[in-house]
Amino acid sequence: MTTAALQSGRPCPHLGTRDDRKTATVAAQYDVIQPGARRIGSFGLARQILRGRDFRQAMLNGDRFPVSDPSQLPVFFLDGDLHRAKRAALAKFFSPKAIASLFRPVIDRQTESLIGELRRTGRMQLDQASWLLAVAVAAEVVGLSESPNAAMADHIENILKYGDYPGKPRLRQMIDSQLSNFNTLIFYLKDVRPAIKARQKQRREDLISQLLDDGFSQIMILVDCMVYATAGMTTTREFITMVAWQLFDHPDLREAFTAGSEAEQFAILEEVLRLDPVGGYVYRRADEALPEELEGEIALGETCAINIREANWDEAAAGACPYALDPGRAKRMKQVGSYMAFGDGVHRCPGAQVALHETRVFIDALFKVPGLKLERPPRVEWNRTLMSYELRDAFVTCEAP
Ligand code: HEM
Repeated sequence: MTTAALQSGRPCPHLGTRDDRKTATVAAQYDVIQPGARRIGSFGLARQILRGRDFRQAMLNGDRFPVSDPSQLPVFFLDGDLHRAKRAALAKFFSPKAIASLFRPVIDRQTESLIGELRRTGRMQLDQASWLLAVAVAAEVVGLSESPNAAMADHIENILKYGDYPGKPRLRQMIDSQLSNFNTLIFYLKDVRPAIKARQKQRREDLISQLLDDGFSQIMILVDCMVYATAGMTTTREFITMVAWQLFDHPDLREAFTAGSEAEQFAILEEVLRLDPVGGYVYRRADEALPEELEGEIALGETCAINIREANWDEAAAGACPYALDPGRAKRMKQVGSYMAFGDGVHRCPGAQVALHETRVFIDALFKVPGLKLERPPRVEWNRTLMSYELRDAFVTCEAP
């Protein structure tokens, strides 16, 4: 693959035999869906479902939670008018203006500190650095501002680590579930409650302030914080590490990234995410009516497990050589660069631009470090609770002063 071909958007004749996917094997090994759900791998059908007005969010059967006041559920689990209203209220946190004024300073500050440390010490654990960055940025959206970032990152990591117990022996499951609950309490006491208290005194431009205005209980604010921890922090951590790994492995892609305009850099990032999407599945169900065009295609009441990976690799949308990294692909195929990696339709990820911006800034600064090398590539693991890959223990080195 030549840099010229990467930048021109022309299909490269040498891509045919390439398979650049890094997580396809582990994803296939642990591929489990909700019982009774139907797997959808066609990009076209997935899009019709995700954009269909009659489909409801069915992840973890979120549409069937027994809650007295559904308006206090996180946006992720809402549908219809409640969902529309919540998304409209959230829009101001994810606008281009918010990214430039609220998040960019945090992204720049964190990147400078992490890359500065690498330059000083000559070594950095890539997945740990990307975790600290992802936590700091999503914490800014949420308003988790009253505790040190590294400590909060540890609290959240412990909740998620012990929360990943499906498939383990029963006793281990019981112990881990208690440990996960205990760590949730620590997160609440050390990070969430102080942030709530600060905003009870004075509201700010963040989610917790908005939830207080909407009369949310402290426990439901904690639930919202956990949604952002999983939806916004863990996802972006894996994305950043994956991008760095792919750029180390593909010198011509790295060259195209470092020499590229912002738009070209975003195209590369999105193509990396298309190939190895962090989230495995999204779920939808039509309980009351099916769009006419889907009648006969799926059954009423059937839970659809949309396989993001399969949809992103569907040749009908991705074009030829779907397993090869080809940043010109989306433009050529007239598709959104990340395909289904950020979802589609009304639940499409509101944080997509935040994730892309922080990744671009961090990766750009990382590959400017003189003598940068990948000392140890990440170990690929699988989180059965989140149904997503985890890249761990990757180390980079550089010329120390
Ligand atoms: C690479 C990073 C990310 C990936 C791959 C990702 C992926 C996704 C996907 C696939 C969905 C759709 C779920 C569905 O349709 O059921 C989603 C929704 C969501 N994401 Fe992200 N996300 C990322 C980063 C972020 C960030 C940085 C934030 C916030 C700071 C965020 C907040 C959310 C929220 C609140 C939702 C629920 C939206 C709704 O239901 O209307 N995400 N994300």
